Amino acid sequence: MTSKLFLTATMNTKTVNYAHKAPVPYWDAQLYDSRHSFVSNLAVDLLELLDPRMGEHILDLGCGTGHLSYKITNTGAEVTGIDHASTMIKRASQTYPGLNFLVIDGSNLAWNQQFDAVFSNAVLHWIKEPEKVISGVGQALKPGGRFVAEFGGKGNIDTIITAIYQALNAAGYPKNKTMNPWYFPSIGEYGMLLETQGFELKLATLVERPTSLNDGEKGLNNWLKMFGGQFFQGIPESEQLNIITDIEARLRPKLFKNGTWIADYKRIRIVANKIK
Ligand code: BEZ
Repeated sequence: MTSKLFLTATMNTKTVNYAHKAPVPYWDAQLYDSRHSFVSNLAVDLLELLDPRMGEHILDLGCGTGHLSYKITNTGAEVTGIDHASTMIKRASQTYPGLNFLVIDGSNLAWNQQFDAVFSNAVLHWIKEPEKVISGVGQALKPGGRFVAEFGGKGNIDTIITAIYQALNAAGYPKNKTMNPWYFPSIGEYGMLLETQGFELKLATLVERPTSLNDGEKGLNNWLKMFGGQFFQGIPESEQLNIITDIEARLRPKLFKNGTWIADYKRIRIVANKIK
């Protein structure tokens, strides 16, 4: 595996090139915990849907820095947390040394009927091969096991994406729009994928969840650096900064309210059981 910087220090982001895959973002685990903790804080009621029980074995797919894995273990369940980013797993293992964390890509699961449930928060929109994820989850679950997940759904951050595209066009980088790293399906589309692979859909919802970004005026800038770095691949640093300033200007009238940036998140939530 090789890695190279694709954004400069201002972006805090680099690509990691796998021979067979598109570049994926580099995850700065410390920055994630300090500025973007709202991602796991918002997932409390998703844990209620999971309803983990004493003695169950649960896979946390895309566990990041491990906070939700830890919350799940508080119920007496045993958790295996996985993430494709070694930076996240390193931090999770340091923070919760008693838990089991592994560097594994969600589209490359190789378990066989080991888990009572698979849980996933704010991760599946990063994986553009949903069929592979669903197939691996189906294999990993015991018969009757449950898959409980939340991620960005159809229309998620449409306002932000539109502004990014407009700013890239205006700066003369229209091709960078093709570097959009996200998959935001409708509930119909995702439900169909689940049913096709032997799941029974118990719940599927798509809800608007406007989300305050931390750090006041800097909130959108931080968010773009943490999550949107791929759009800026190959663009000189000074131009990246101009493009970000342009994105902020385009979004300010719509998303900046009382000193806080509000991202137009739309979440899809699913609960599905693996048919026996
Ligand atoms: C989300 O949680 O919906 C999300 C986060 C970062 C980038 C895109 C979507």
